[in-house]
Parts: sequence; structure tokens; C-alpha cells
Amino acid sequence: EKSGYKHFMLKEINEQPRAIRDTTLGRVSLDTGKVHLPEMQFSEADFRNASQITIAACGTSWHAGLAGKFMIERLARLPVEVDYASEYRYRDPIADPRAIGLLITQSGETADTLAAQAELAAKGSKTLAICNVVGAAITRKAQGTLTTNAGPEIGVASTKAFTAQLTALFVLALHLAQVRGTISDEESLHLVTELSKLPTKLASLLNINSPDAPGSSEGVAAPIRPSTPDRRSTTRQPLSVQCEELARLFHTADDFLFLGRGIHYPIALEGALKLKEISYIHAEGYPAGEMKHGPNALIDESLPVVCIATKDPNDPSSVLKYEKTLSNIQEVTARSGRVIAIAIEGDTEISQLVEQTIYIPQAPELLLPILEVVPLQLLAYHIAVRRGCDVDQPRNLAKSVTVE
Ligand code: M6R
Repeated sequence: EKSGYKHFMLKEINEQPRAIRDTTLGRVSLDTGKVHLPEMQFSEADFRNASQITIAACGTSWHAGLAGKFMIERLARLPVEVDYASEYRYRDPIADPRAIGLLITQSGETADTLAAQAELAAKGSKTLAICNVVGAAITRKAQGTLTTNAGPEIGVASTKAFTAQLTALFVLALHLAQVRGTISDEESLHLVTELSKLPTKLASLLNINSPDAPGSSEGVAAPIRPSTPDRRSTTRQPLSVQCEELARLFHTADDFLFLGRGIHYPIALEGALKLKEISYIHAEGYPAGEMKHGPNALIDESLPVVCIATKDPNDPSSVLKYEKTLSNIQEVTARSGRVIAIAIEGDTEISQLVEQTIYIPQAPELLLPILEVVPLQLLAYHIAVRRGCDVDQPRNLAKSVTVE
């Protein structure tokens, strides 16, 4: 069942190229850039006239929702609120029948998310589900479902379901933008083309065969390239080798910080959650710019700080964010914090500044999260393995949380 992998989590991390491809296929046209959603009880007018989107979800799915906010607001110019599903009904949310409720859940059975759906429905909003399990409870009450085709996820720590959720959110954001006329045909085509390149980029990052390669046999490891000890090198060693080495160096740490800015901040939160839940190391995700408002006081020579410092050079706001994040990194290194940077292949500026750099392939800003979370998953995995933890069944946790 584990197809030769030691744990389901590792198998599922390696299934991400296929999960992304299967969540994209049949929904986008590579000729026109148009997005086609499955049949649902939402008309184009519902999407065009929506006043806002209210996202409710828990855990990793909530992180996907936070990233989805950036995608939908940026592409479709529609305001998005993101709530913890477990909090939603306790704040007497403001009723708006033109608001669309968007529930994100791998299992479709999470009690808190079902309760948020009931609250949204009671307030008169239609609900849309992004769910990985066909026929799950949430989909039976929703007016529409966008299925993430990640396949069954067994490991308690969500991996492929998360990147599939990000993919579904990107597809939804594009569709909303097209219906609302906030995106040009040219930009749509460009983004759809870039989306279609992700499975191959993920496969190369994971050193496995691409699901799109002719005659490929999924998940089969490609030959490991020799490692390059030069820290200024702009190419990368195989990611698993790098993450194993990082695990060797950092598995005894008591705390970890994960920093990101903009759409990369939810990925920092996700990196911290992965580490917490499977290795039992205390970790926090923080917006990079907030460090100087308090958490800088935590930094010392024993604190590993994972900084997401990627950029899309064709996107001025992404470049600005990157520049600011570089200054934040300098603030950490000046206080002897040990920085592990996630950066874009070819970025020599960053590797001069920090102790460790993990490179990922280039992609447009809104798609980078799908690539940058992969090293964070593998880092958590290898640290947990080194600490002798039960990776697939962490203590005190269940795959599906069916009580509020
Ligand atoms: O099935 P759901 O997506 O609704 O589950 C939500 C959370 O319980 C889940 O994401 C949890 O945080 C994972 N164990 C994280 O890896």
C-alpha cells in the first residue's frame, strides 16, 4: 500500500505532481485559458454579483484558505474573509445573502467546518465546498463542489491534499476573475500555461519522474545527483538529501520559527504546523515584518528560522516583498539566528546572507506556494523520522476530527 515508501506521508508528498495535475485537468483549456467548473447550483450571475467570499476551514485547510484569499482578491478583485471554522459561529457573523460561503476540507467530515456551513446557510449564503472525498457530508449540503483529485490521504499530516486545495483555489480564483471581467484573455492563458507546468516542476523538485512524461511510472526516484557542498552554489542537491542533512543539524532544536510575507505567510504557518504535529517540536509561523514588533526577542544562536524568500521577477509587488524580507533576514542573522532560506533557483544574493538555502523552481507569485511548501513538508518529515516519532499517526491526533 505504501508502494515501497517507508511512510504514507512520504508517499503522499511524492504524489503531489499527480495530485496537482489531476486537480487541474479537465478544468482549464490550454488553448484559450478559460476555466470550466463542474456543474453546480451557482450561476455565473451568482459569481458576478457576489459581495464577498467567506472562507471557513480548520488546520491545514485554513492555511489553504488564507493563501486563497490572496489569489481571489488579486485576480477577481472580490473581498475575501477567512475564518477558523471552529470560531465562525461564535462571532455572530454579519448576514449577507450575496456572500458566498467557501468551505475547504480534505475529509469533508470535519465537525467544525460542517457547523460553519450550517451557520452560513442559516444566514442565507450559498455554500461551495473544496473537498477531497467524493460524497462527503459537506458536499451533500453545498450548492457546489470543487473536488480536489489528490486521491486518498492516509497520513494524519496533510500534504498532497493541501497542494491540491491551493490548486483548486487558484482555478476558482481564475474562474471568478474571468466571469467578473477582471482578467485579460492573455493573462488567463499565461496563468493557465504556468499552472500546467507545475506537475513537471514539482517532479523535478522531488527528483521523481513527472506524471506528464511519456511512459512515466509515477513516484519512481530519478538518479540522485552528487551533492555540492558549496553554499554559494545556485543549483540544488536533491531535496530529500538536503532535508535529511537539515534534519541532522536541527532535529534537537526546542523551537523553530517560520517566516513569510504576503501569500507566503500562510505557507510559513503550514510549515510550522507540519513540524509541530509530527515531530512535537514547538514551532511558530509569523509574518516576516512582524518580527520586530516582539518575536525578535526570541532570537538567539540556537533558534532555527525558516524564511520563505522567493520572488517572481515579473511581478513588482513580489519583488518589493522579497526586498523587505531580505532586510528581515538580516535582522535575524544580526542576532545570530540560524536562517534556512527557501529561495528561487539562481538566487545568489540570498545564499550569501544565510546559513542554508533550499532552492525551488521559478513560478508566478500566486503559484509559488505550491512549490515552496514541499521542502517544508520534507523538513518536518525527516526531523520527525530522526526523532523516532510515529510520522503517520502522531500522538493525540486523528485524521478526521468529527467532534466540535
Ligand atoms: O479534513 P479537513 O481538511 O477538514 O481537516 C482539517 C484539519 O483537521 C487538518 O487539516 C489538520 O490540521 C491536519 N492534521 C494538518 O496536517
